[in-house]
Amino acid sequence: MGMTFEPKVLNVEQLEPFKIRDVRQSILDKIQERIEQAGYNPSRPLSVVQKNGKYIVADGNHRLEVIRKLGIQDVPCVVYQDDPYSIATKSNQDEDTYAPMDLFDWLDVIRKLQEDGLTQAKIGEVIGWVQQNVARYLKTGNLTPQVLSLAKKYQEGRGVKNTPSGVFDFTEGWFRNSGIYDLMPVDQMELMRWFVEDKKCDAKAKSVKDKAAELQFKRNSKIYVAKELMRPADQAKFLEIIQSFYSQIDHGYIKSHDQLEKLVNKKNVDWEDENRIKIIHADVFDVIDNYQAGTFDLLIADPPYKVLSDEWDTFKNKDEFIQFTERWLKRVMPKIKDTGRAYIFFSQWYEFDLYEVLRNNDFFGMNFGQKLIWYYRNNNQPSNRKEYRYCYEPIFYLYGKNAGELNFTADTYGDDQMNVWEEAMPQSNFKEGKNHPAQKPLEIYRKIIKTGSKMGDAVLDPFAGSGTTGCVCKELNREVVMIEKDLDYCKLIQTRLVV
Ligand SMILES: C[S@@+](CC[C@H](N)C(=O)[O-])C[C@H]1O[C@@H](n2cnc3c(N)ncnc32)[C@H](O)[C@@H]1O
Repeated sequence: MGMTFEPKVLNVEQLEPFKIRDVRQSILDKIQERIEQAGYNPSRPLSVVQKNGKYIVADGNHRLEVIRKLGIQDVPCVVYQDDPYSIATKSNQDEDTYAPMDLFDWLDVIRKLQEDGLTQAKIGEVIGWVQQNVARYLKTGNLTPQVLSLAKKYQEGRGVKNTPSGVFDFTEGWFRNSGIYDLMPVDQMELMRWFVEDKKCDAKAKSVKDKAAELQFKRNSKIYVAKELMRPADQAKFLEIIQSFYSQIDHGYIKSHDQLEKLVNKKNVDWEDENRIKIIHADVFDVIDNYQAGTFDLLIADPPYKVLSDEWDTFKNKDEFIQFTERWLKRVMPKIKDTGRAYIFFSQWYEFDLYEVLRNNDFFGMNFGQKLIWYYRNNNQPSNRKEYRYCYEPIFYLYGKNAGELNFTADTYGDDQMNVWEEAMPQSNFKEGKNHPAQKPLEIYRKIIKTGSKMGDAVLDPFAGSGTTGCVCKELNREVVMIEKDLDYCKLIQTRLVV
């Protein structure tokens, strides 16, 4: 369709802005600098539309603002006889436009046309798009204003500079492929925050989709839990149970609907009775004396050993740490039967100190068996080139004065009878997962529990962490008491035990 137009020099007073999009300060600055240096470029006339005796600036609103500011009177224009929207949107797509239209400009234009009562098809005609494209943009436009304005804040070319996460060119396609449309508004906001505020602006499309799927899974899980646990007899207990589930979901301990279903159906399990597994949420020093001396057949202790930055593993200095070690050993070791055994995990940095503490205390009335070695190859920390790379942790093995033989059976034949056990350090991508920074491999605990105890024996783990001991005791039919002072870890243990 032909379009009539006529070049004309107009006085700035005759021009009226037609703002279908936000004016951006960075563009104003750029244009002002150019005009101040080289004067107004006559080969870039403003596109205006004559309407009711006025000239509406369909394209060139940034330039108009600068022209006014600089007091320029005569402005080269091209006068069109057409719809200003149509001229504006077409001009703004030109390759050499000063400020190309971005997603948010298009959303504004389309919304305004929709407010004017135009159908999707008609909007498409005005701006030269197929209707499907208009429909897609309207879908993006239907996201909550909070989500859109957060995205806009980080949109490339718009105001925000030097944000910690950088900026991003949000497009309709990005929204369509992000998985955000499948989420509830609160999670849409969560996804957007994650993307722009948690420095994920460069996240690949796949990670964004995965994050959206994770948020959706968590939301559906909460809905499922709420539905399944409806009509409670005791309101206070109900809230407590629900909160406990929600916290496990939020922490990401629950990975599949199947796990969740099992967990929900065991909601009233009394761990002590049903599985002979006891989880005690407490500081070991506060509860250990609830057990008499000589109660347990097997101790597996994986105590804090001053290597991680977590609060529970932090000590002022080495002295404080060694004193702590001696303190818990003095309280815990007497609880082992004289027929029992103890396995103590420690860091190789301090293994000589541990040995000294044990010797100074006459090995707490036990025999020092030997140092077992858990050997792993998946430590990526490079050597400092004066020393070799660290790839093992010592496990001190002691046995009671009246202990019988180790439980070597057909099942423990071979490597289990050696004193070096190779097993990779748990990683989050392993089948058994990793939700605790110091989680130990199930297989190492199997070797200990199989060889160091018998079916029905009583096991104590005073620093339970993620409950590796409990998982193996359940599998191998041992009774177990696990003590853990962090409530979240206690919940993690429950999750691991039912799934
Ligand atoms: C090395 S981690 C145990 C990891 C565990 N073996 C596993 O496989 O997951 C030690 C745990 O002891 C807990 N802890 C530290 N001091 C404690 C105390 N005084 N009483 C009870 N638990 C404590 C910490 O919260 C931490 O989870």
